[in-house]
Amino acid sequence: MPLSGKNVIFVGGLGFIGYECCKKLMPKNMANFFVFDVLENADNIKALQALNTKTKVHYIKFDITKKESIKSAIAEVVSKAKYIDVLVNGAGILTDPNVELTMNINLIGLINTTFEALPFMDKNKQGRGGVIVNIASVLGLEPCPPAAVYCASKFGVMGFSRSISDPYYYKITGVAVVTFCPGLTETPLKNNIGSKYTFEYSKKISEELNGTKTQKPEVCGAHLAQVVESHENGGIYISNQGTLSKVTPTVYWQPTY
Ligand SMILES: NC(=O)c1ccc[n+]([C@@H]2O[C@H](COP(=O)([O-])OP(=O)(O)OC[C@H]3O[C@@H](n4cnc5c(N)ncnc54)[C@H](O)[C@@H]3O)[C@@H](O)[C@H]2O)c1
Repeated sequence: MPLSGKNVIFVGGLGFIGYECCKKLMPKNMANFFVFDVLENADNIKALQALNTKTKVHYIKFDITKKESIKSAIAEVVSKAKYIDVLVNGAGILTDPNVELTMNINLIGLINTTFEALPFMDKNKQGRGGVIVNIASVLGLEPCPPAAVYCASKFGVMGFSRSISDPYYYKITGVAVVTFCPGLTETPLKNNIGSKYTFEYSKKISEELNGTKTQKPEVCGAHLAQVVESHENGGIYISNQGTLSKVTPTVYWQPTY
């Protein structure tokens, strides 16, 4: 979907992967670009705006763990832009000892943001169709013994994302849902993984995981920007060690009638 003239929200847009993607989206002549983040970084917002004056960049301070914050941020977008065309859900943390925070940011917050934004995207309601890109992880596809809680949150994102990308919904809403799965990427999220493990005795295997080959956030952000433009309902993509590839999930069960 060409992004020209569109209203785009990027949740977690000041993060490492997020910001790299934001920079790649700026030349696309979006009408309004809303960067949601709990982080504040006026210089980075100014730098984004300087990349293209045709797009109006708005920063909205946003805490995904708080429903009121989600509601007011979406209301602010709608008051300024009327429609939401693209929603990228990119907030995430890795801190297995804090189960509730992990789930609240990585999964529950992502679901609540999607539900709040959807009526302004749904062509059957107040929207004009569009695309939602959910950032899961390769750890939403495969188990991760040292980061079991993070992994559970990302499997949750995968299940939610795949379910709402059902063609039945897409036909009604005109909103495509795509899932993006980064492999290990050099950002602070994976720093000190030794202090973010599931059990005390996970330390050894978490250090091994930390030794896995990585990619730069610039590469991952550029792949994400490509996926945001793809508008391919049900698409699942992996960005790993510099390569973007498509995933076809294995189907183990289907309803029988
Ligand atoms: N770095 C990796 O190796 C890797 C691998 C797979 C998936 N991911 C996923 O990619 C996404 C981006 O991660 P990153 O590596 O760039 O990390 P990052 O820490 O740089 O970015 C995460 C962003 O989420 C924001 N955030 C955290 N808590 C928030 C809250 N309560 N409300 C709103 N925003 C909040 C942060 O401020 C930050 O901007 C995350 O969903 C992460 O789980 C990262």
